[in-house]
Amino acid sequence: MNYHPYVARYENMIYNRCGRSGLLLPAISLGLWHNFGGVDQFENSRAIIRRAFDLGITHFDLANNYGPPPGSAEINFGRILKQDFRGCRDEMIISTKAGYYMWPGPYGDWGSRKYLLASLDQSLKRLGLEYVDIFYHHRPDPECPLEETMGALDSAVRQGKALYVGISTYSPEDTRRAAKILEEMGTPCFIHQPKYNMFVRWIEDGLLDTLEELGIGCITFTPLAQGLLTQKYLEGIPEDSRAAKEHGFLQREHITPGKIATIRQLNKIAEERHQTLAQMAIAWILRHKAVTSVLVGVSKVRQLEANVAALDNLSFTNEELSAIDKLLNSNKNT
Ligand SMILES: NC(=O)c1ccc[n+]([C@@H]2O[C@H](COP(=O)([O-])OP(=O)(O)OC[C@H]3O[C@@H](n4cnc5c(N)ncnc54)[C@H](OP(=O)(O)O)[C@@H]3O)[C@@H](O)[C@H]2O)c1
Repeated sequence: MNYHPYVARYENMIYNRCGRSGLLLPAISLGLWHNFGGVDQFENSRAIIRRAFDLGITHFDLANNYGPPPGSAEINFGRILKQDFRGCRDEMIISTKAGYYMWPGPYGDWGSRKYLLASLDQSLKRLGLEYVDIFYHHRPDPECPLEETMGALDSAVRQGKALYVGISTYSPEDTRRAAKILEEMGTPCFIHQPKYNMFVRWIEDGLLDTLEELGIGCITFTPLAQGLLTQKYLEGIPEDSRAAKEHGFLQREHITPGKIATIRQLNKIAEERHQTLAQMAIAWILRHKAVTSVLVGVSKVRQLEANVAALDNLSFTNEELSAIDKLLNSNKNT
């Protein structure tokens, strides 16, 4: 069936300025790490992308290695763009990354100029695009000079293959160094993509402050701890869940009785706020003013709709925040 974007799609989404840049990103963005690969049902992936756009989600996040197999999420997304989104390119912010293993030999991994620029060319081919909006270095490379990696990002912009550049999972110190090198080259560091959720809170120890100070946007990933921060695992492991899938990054052994007990207690707090746990977990991230957008992953349209409804209640009382902190601190090692 032909797709016609919902006319009122921009009315209910919140758009936040990305750092001190000129660009706004939706408070909720969609990531294509899981559920969009060659192993997944194409029509389901397509329905999720269409629904996302109708809900005002303008930002779609990819990486060279998303699939499985690696590269297939970009191929599928490129196909969906061609089928359904002709004429919408200027309403979309599409990102990709390079930094993890992609092809054999010494040039298909980490942070060299050779790898990053070759990978970006490959991504553009798979996506069927002339440029991406954001090109990221996916993870720090302890051996490659930072000047070389940042130089490759700068070149991507100068070649017209990326509009903005970003870094992912860099420490506050490396972020500062990367931003300085980029600034000297005349290409600002636009955005940082770190992991952040109720179970993984490292960005509170310096990264958020650094990003705010430097005027770099922040888009956090894995807000639901890959689905743990929902009600789905409270009564066992459903067959269609990420933890049940062989290729899923969430493993059965991550779902410990201690974690489930914590999730049950968090769920009670969410219920008192008249939200689901997933919605509370997303709202809890957006409470930081340094956070531009929360990058969710979904396997079903209804999950996406439920997650976007988190925006209906973003405020927390001090009592709620302390109750959440207390619970997370007392169950830290479970
Ligand atoms: N930069 C990096 O290094 C990096 C690393 C990882 C991820 N990311 C980015 O972050 C994005 C999101 O990561 P993620 O997929 O791990 O995020 P997530 O939102 O924590 O987990 C997504 C999973 O949670 C479940 N879920 C989502 N909404 C739900 C709901 N309302 N009710 C019940 N279950 C729900 C689904 O699992 P089921 O399949 O079980 O239904 C879904 O696949 C990725 O797609 C990628 O773009 C970046």
